[in-house]
Amino acid sequence: MKKIGIIGLGIMGKGMTLNFLKNGYEVFVWNRTKSVSESIDHEKLTICSSPKEVTEQADIIFEVTANDESSEAVWYGESGILAGASTEKVLIVSSTLSIDYTDKLIKECERNNFKILDIPLTGGRVGAETGNLTLLCGGDEKLVNDLKPTFEAIAANVFYFGPSGSGMRYKLILNFVQGTHIVAFGQAMRIAKDQGMDLEKVGNGLAFRPGGVITEITNKSYFNEPNPVTFSVEWITKDLEYAKKMAKDLDVNVLDATLEKYRETVDRGLKDKDWTAVNN
Ligand SMILES: NC(=O)c1ccc[n+]([C@@H]2O[C@H](COP(=O)([O-])OP(=O)(O)OC[C@H]3O[C@@H](n4cnc5c(N)ncnc54)[C@H](OP(=O)(O)O)[C@@H]3O)[C@@H](O)[C@H]2O)c1
Repeated sequence: MKKIGIIGLGIMGKGMTLNFLKNGYEVFVWNRTKSVSESIDHEKLTICSSPKEVTEQADIIFEVTANDESSEAVWYGESGILAGASTEKVLIVSSTLSIDYTDKLIKECERNNFKILDIPLTGGRVGAETGNLTLLCGGDEKLVNDLKPTFEAIAANVFYFGPSGSGMRYKLILNFVQGTHIVAFGQAMRIAKDQGMDLEKVGNGLAFRPGGVITEITNKSYFNEPNPVTFSVEWITKDLEYAKKMAKDLDVNVLDATLEKYRETVDRGLKDKDWTAVNN
């Protein structure tokens, strides 16, 4: 059985760690705040002193920190992933990151003949905790296929989008659409309220059609604030900023409006709230 490394034990990384452990894998972890690693008690878990040590010990290493800055710190630092990497390891970048940064990281790995896959995630807290994530893959297709049995511990779906960087590009496109659905739902409910309608009936109607996972989540969150948070306002705003950068000068006024709503939500002091709090 391959040895797994997880760097970053936030909502997503912790859930992934627990599911690899549950499926009998040996897991090597590092998290900036050590107490989070220590909160997991399992005989097959090893808490490492650095991302470098995780990379040296494990065969397949997932990085699941927050943003470009945190990713840069854990990949490029003196005790970082690149310092511990070798050509036999499979390095997987699973944080949602900007395209400029992702492409730079991929180039650096390719220059060293390191195996790198970009595999951002979708499925939120519930997907991570239940082992039902969807993996959005870019990179060597054969390598992705070879790893599918291992991915079964954490994922219900493995989607392949194309060469290196394609997974991350798709993830930013996806979060643009997801963020827009959330904001549109909130605005639809504002109109319904202004028209004196029964909001529960309207919410349930929208969850039926257009429906889909995001409308359903947003409808539930509209009436009961999710606790704990599934995905933060701060990180969806980051994803929309990265999507906007990727779009460069294309006319994407729906993305612009959605991003603006999220920026305002951060400015209202709600960055640590659930991403549906944009409608609060
Ligand atoms: N939650 C979701 O629904 C979801 C879904 C798909 C993708 N994602 C993406 O997955 C990634 C993780 O998301 P999450 O929801 O798990 O976030 P989270 O709960 O906020 O966790 C963030 C993780 O990053 C670490 N971190 C932050 N800044 C760091 C730094 N400067 N150096 C080293 N480590 C740092 C944190 O360590 P500490 O414990 O020390 O703070 C923590 O382990 C993000 O890129 C996010 O966009 C999230």
